[in-house]
Amino acid sequence: MSKKIFSGVQPTGNLHLGNYLGAIKNFVELNNDKQNDCIFCVVDLHAITVKQDRDQLKNNIRETAATFIASGIDPAKSIIFNQSKVQAHSEGSWMLSCIAPMGWLNRMTQFKEKAGKDKEKASVGLYIYPILMASDILLYDTTHVPVGEDQKQHLELTRDIAQKFNKDFNCADFLKVPEPLIKKNFSRIMSLKDGSKKMSKSDPSDLSRINLTDSKDQIVNKIKRAKTDSFPIPNEEQKLNGRPEAENLLGIYSSISNQSMEKTLSQFGGKNFSDFKAQLAEILSNKISPISDEIKKLLNDKQYLDKALLEGARKAEEIAGKKIEEIKRIIGF
Ligand code: TYM
Repeated sequence: MSKKIFSGVQPTGNLHLGNYLGAIKNFVELNNDKQNDCIFCVVDLHAITVKQDRDQLKNNIRETAATFIASGIDPAKSIIFNQSKVQAHSEGSWMLSCIAPMGWLNRMTQFKEKAGKDKEKASVGLYIYPILMASDILLYDTTHVPVGEDQKQHLELTRDIAQKFNKDFNCADFLKVPEPLIKKNFSRIMSLKDGSKKMSKSDPSDLSRINLTDSKDQIVNKIKRAKTDSFPIPNEEQKLNGRPEAENLLGIYSSISNQSMEKTLSQFGGKNFSDFKAQLAEILSNKISPISDEIKKLLNDKQYLDKALLEGARKAEEIAGKKIEEIKRIIGF
């Protein structure tokens, strides 16, 4: 069955292995299935929920688009664009913010994490960010949204908002209720330094993550210094309980080599981490280095990237522009 896919990535720099394994790698698989209509968005309006440097933001938008293309998303097959170029996203966000009750937003755990202790100082944008995300998704009649585990709650909110809109305006099925696509075992890649923390671009330690622009030497060094424990690798998945760093590295290996954890454990069970780490670093650099080289190449051709983004925005505008007009009509404008 053909799927309508939409997903987004923030252009905040330092795209990392978590973004790749949790999201972008799946985008590529979905892009490669001829039956799917895919839209991948550089969500620059989401990025400004925290302060950005103007020049840096411009570079990061291009770099995120370059990462999509370098990873294997074909801009001729899928739509790639940046959110701020299509007005309907902001308009939809306002209208949906008049549908969603504050109580629903108050439950969002990511806001609590990102705002930290001083919530009063967080921007209103950061608070209503999941509504902009709902607008992104619902404007395209999206059926499936590939994301990492950390976005699951935002997708549940999107589903609730769609259902409430349809009910409030008595227009059953008008906003399509999307399904999340979250890879079962590998949707939450953890920090290389602390298996209880998510791998994240905001971690102050660069050693905690593999960036998609890292060189082979950097990857080898980071994997060598990644935290493990003093026990050998087990043969069974169950025995990884309580060993988050070991589980994370073995998960990364399984995901990047497209095999089950069971298969990885049968390959490395009983061995020590130094052998395993050498092989992990090798497979990671074989996979990441070509992407990193391609990103650098694409970034030298700004004209190509800008043209691809503009063309994508034109196609996105055609779809979202129609939907927002229907939304306005239903509301009564
Ligand atoms: P963002 O930019 O934080 O992350 C982009 C994608 O990467 C995934 N991800 C991870 N997956 C596994 N392990 C990790 N450590 C890890 N870190 C990040 C995220 O789950 C995400 O899929 N709000 C979204 C962007 C967005 C969006 C949308 C997504 C805006 N509109 C509409 C889907 C549909 C965000 O901030 O992702």
